[in-house]
Amino acid sequence: MMTPSDPETGAASPDAEPTDVGVAIPAAGIGSRMGRRKKAFLELGGEPLLRRTLEPFLAHDRVVSIAIALPAEESGRPPGWLVGLDPRIRWVAGGVTRLHSVRAAITALDVRAEVILVHDGARPLVSREIIDRCLRVADRGEGAVAGWPSVDTLKEVDSAGQILATPRREALWRAQTPQAFPRQLLLDAYRKALDDGVTATDDSALFARVGGRVRMVEGAPWNLKVTHPEDLEVAELLFRLRNGPTGGEPR
Ligand code: C5P
Repeated sequence: MMTPSDPETGAASPDAEPTDVGVAIPAAGIGSRMGRRKKAFLELGGEPLLRRTLEPFLAHDRVVSIAIALPAEESGRPPGWLVGLDPRIRWVAGGVTRLHSVRAAITALDVRAEVILVHDGARPLVSREIIDRCLRVADRGEGAVAGWPSVDTLKEVDSAGQILATPRREALWRAQTPQAFPRQLLLDAYRKALDDGVTATDDSALFARVGGRVRMVEGAPWNLKVTHPEDLEVAELLFRLRNGPTGGEPR
């Protein structure tokens, strides 16, 4: 498949020591489109969804630190399965918006982490391959966003449903997470965004505001975000497909 960037060619020199990676996981949403059920604690494949999300990061040998932004009540008394799950994990109270939650998580990460991955707690099907595609770009000093080309034509509409614009579909990708960034520039981006009162939901847009270059890398159509109740049913089917008798990633 054609991708707008080819992270394979931009890999760091094979002799370079791989840098340490930190993972910031915003998981403090209140699940307003999920009947106010906190998504992180719903079950997927018989385990809490957040635990499924953590698995490929915990299995990654470059990950030295993981900070999870939890809903305020849970951050004071985290669930038993999370406490003692892995010494690299710490948790913080999330904020009123995703932006505040990510900021709390990235500032709680171990300072050894030179590259930071930001990944939605509600995207439990992320794979090692997607994570590594993002890291290959961040390793050379740029930002990376996992995404997938839009198969639908997207319309810009006003509040009355009037169509305002039809952007060229070939140029449109759906942004997913993980997104990966060099640490210091990401911290600067968040500080500046909060100082300026910016309310973007996308980390890469904040990174670009402070002059960072950002590339799209190939995510996957099945790297979905559990937002509505039906998404959980689809995620469960995909999870079973991946972990079924044939193994591998769902196609
Ligand atoms: O609400 P949205 O779908 O954008 O949420 C994406 C991720 O951000 C979810 O994992 C959610 O838990 C998290 N989030 C957060 N703090 C908020 C709002 C959302 O950590 N205040």
